[in-house]
Amino acid sequence: MKIDHICPNLYRIQIPFEDIYTSVYVVRTQKSTAIIDSGADASDADRHILPAMQQLVIAPDNVCCLLLTHAHGDHAGGLNRLAAHFPQALIYASFPIDLPRYNPLHDNEILMQDLKVISLPGHVDHSVGFLHLPSGTLLSGDCLQLKGIGKYRKNIADRDAYENSVHKLLNMNLNRIIAAHEFDPLGSVADGRQAVRLYLEKCLEFW
Ligand SMILES: [Fe+2]
Repeated sequence: MKIDHICPNLYRIQIPFEDIYTSVYVVRTQKSTAIIDSGADASDADRHILPAMQQLVIAPDNVCCLLLTHAHGDHAGGLNRLAAHFPQALIYASFPIDLPRYNPLHDNEILMQDLKVISLPGHVDHSVGFLHLPSGTLLSGDCLQLKGIGKYRKNIADRDAYENSVHKLLNMNLNRIIAAHEFDPLGSVADGRQAVRLYLEKCLEFW
């Protein structure tokens, strides 16, 4: 497990997954903390996410929200265990989840004052990113794919929707993108408006 400090109040936990890594984002505000995505399984929650929260000195009862970018296993597989570890946290996703604290996510919804939900279909029909408003950072999960990673190529369910999502982001003046994996050829981070534009343009050339 590795923790990246992206900017004030924003962190990414890299969790080994197969021969790559998957990401969990941690967003802090003055009052509370959100965890975005959940690793691949209960073991990721126990062995990586909880120790990372301890390293970041975030008390368990400060976690108010568990959010998901989409339903794929390497992002959502650890949710039940995280929900057990954080019994007060509300659960938000853009697809139905059979848990009592579940709430549906809506495009443009603001959570915890600092996080805006951005619907970005394409990779899957329900993909969302989260825009960290204080820093202009998009936590894109798998919404942006470049040329994919490892054996995961052409991992886009709906190409037209994907292109529309990329164009939507090109019009948003983002300062930074943090993806969930080291997608070829630009990796997981685009830092600065020029780098963001290049990253998005490369997503339109996917194959
Ligand atoms: Fe995915």
